[in-house]
Order: sequence, then C-alpha cells, then structure tokens
Amino acid sequence: MAVADPPVVDRASAPEWLVAQLAEGRPGCTTVVAHSIMFQYLSDDGRRAMLAAIDEAGQAATEDAPFAWLRLEPGGDQAELRLTTWPGGTTHLLGRSSYHGPPVVWLAPVGGVIRPSTR
Ligand SMILES: C[S@@+](CC[C@H](N)C(=O)[O-])C[C@H]1O[C@@H](n2cnc3c(N)ncnc32)[C@H](O)[C@@H]1O
Repeated sequence: MAVADPPVVDRASAPEWLVAQLAEGRPGCTTVVAHSIMFQYLSDDGRRAMLAAIDEAGQAATEDAPFAWLRLEPGGDQAELRLTTWPGGTTHLLGRSSYHGPPVVWLAPVGGVIRPSTR
C-alpha cells in the first residue's frame, strides 16, 4: 500500500504543523489527530497551542465533518489510550499499556458501545 500510495511526511514541529493542518475545514471527512508518547516533549507553549487547536477543531466539528483525538500518553505508571470525539466532545478510555507496548489491556467493548470517561 505504501509503495502504491506513499504517505506524505512533513518535517515539522507538531504544534505549528497541527495548527496549520486544522485551520481548514474538511467537509465530508472525519479528521483524526493521533499521537503517542510525545506530549511530554513539547514546551508549555507547544502543549497549549496543540490543545487550543484541538479544542477549536472539536468545537467546529459537525456531523458532516466529525473530529477525533486519539492519544496514547502517560496516565500514572502506565500509558493510557484515550479517544475524544466531536461533535459532543465525549472522551473514552480505550485501554492501558506499558510505555513500550505489552501488556496491553483493552477496556472498551469490542464491537459494542464504549463507555465515556471523565479525563
Ligand atoms: C518516546 S518517542 C515516541 C515515539 C512513538 N510515537 C511511540 O509512541 O513509540 C517521542 C517522540 O516525540 C517526538 N517529538 C518530540 N517533540 C516533538 C515535536 N515538537 N513535534 C513532533 N514530534 C515531537 C519525537 O520525534 C519522538 O518520535
């Protein structure tokens, strides 16, 4: 697949890149922002810029142009996989893992309704 349709890889810092990417709406598409064990490496300003861009994109989401934020980031002594979807801004804790992979505990039902969490 990657040979037939090579992905575009931009060399950029995440906050600036994300703000630019999310500036344009994408009617008819679901936009997903995903990141894994990288938030802690950003500056405070970078984290704030990324969170503001994600929040703004969430508020602008519609049924025709949904927005999702999927992240595997520290949650105490384990990493937590969380998903927030808009419209609505509902957050789900999907699973927990070590910081480098297994053991992975999947918490959301497979093929069922996932349970909102408060973080
Ligand atoms: C611990 S590694 C995690 C790598 C991979 N995401 C994973 O979960 O296995 C931290 C990653 O954060 C990335 N990173 C650090 N600062 C960044 C920034 N300002 N913008 C984008 N990525 C950044 C690094 O390039 C590195 O790949």
